[in-house]
Amino acid sequence: MQVWAVANQKGGVGKTTTAISLAGLLAEVGYRVLLVDLDPHGSMTSYFRYDPDELGNSVYDLFMPAGVTAERVQELILETSHESIRLMPAATALATLERKAVTQEGMGLQVARALRHLQAEYDYVLIDSPPVLGVLMVNALAACHHLVVPVQTEFLALKGLERMVRTIHMINRARKHKLPFTVVPTFYDRRTQASVNSLRELHKLYPEYLSKAVVPVDTKFRNASLKGMVPSSLDAGSRGVHAYARLLRNLLEPQEQE
Ligand SMILES: Nc1ncnc2c1ncn2[C@@H]1O[C@H](COP(=O)(O)OP(=O)(O)OP(=O)(O)O)[C@@H](O)[C@H]1O
Ligand SMILES: [Mg+2]
Repeated sequence: MQVWAVANQKGGVGKTTTAISLAGLLAEVGYRVLLVDLDPHGSMTSYFRYDPDELGNSVYDLFMPAGVTAERVQELILETSHESIRLMPAATALATLERKAVTQEGMGLQVARALRHLQAEYDYVLIDSPPVLGVLMVNALAACHHLVVPVQTEFLALKGLERMVRTIHMINRARKHKLPFTVVPTFYDRRTQASVNSLRELHKLYPEYLSKAVVPVDTKFRNASLKGMVPSSLDAGSRGVHAYARLLRNLLEPQEQE
């Protein structure tokens, strides 16, 4: 089982869209995929038509005393519109966690512990992280083998990325193995100077981490979310899906030269 997290301390850069798009493409080639929603806003949970205000069971339960038993973890998992994708949903209650968790030791590994119970059931796990550096993002970073960092190609986006890269270095000091990560430019519009300039800057500043795939602005993502379908099920030929397919090839075979 491979675990990938999607994170950036900046909001609205395409994190949830990236996790769902990659999940759809992995499921399409026959992998069993689990999506984990660690964002208290529950955008991923809402995407699949569950209400994060109403759910009885959610990832919040993993942070309760004795929350990480195999049985408990199974109870959290929901079906989605795609038969090969399951969801561990978020609940709004997650927002209260940051305050509670700082006083409790070992809270940074709850998600990693939960996923150990699911080793045999899934090939890929994709974790969606909130745009805040707190106990939830720390859980996502501690549980994953690879980190995907979407960055909006616009003015000021690079500042947010700088902060995220500092966080990764900080986390690496506590890890046995360094966390590999891939920076993915998103919302690219080659007609705007801001997009072109920021992509050029990314090439200059992070050549070794930058994905060859650049995700364009594509309204099809919104259409897919309105239907609760993964983008590749709605329109496999769209430019956005093509970009994520290229990203996925890079992630699966990092050595492959395109
Ligand atoms: N490449 C794209 N082109 C056009 N729209 C997009 C693209 N990627 C995402 N969107 C849309 O932009 C909005 C924000 O995207 P998304 O929710 O994936 O960002 P996020 O980083 O998860 O945000 P948050 O920080 O709030 O969790 C959504 O409505 C989504 O459908
Ligand atoms: Mg999100």
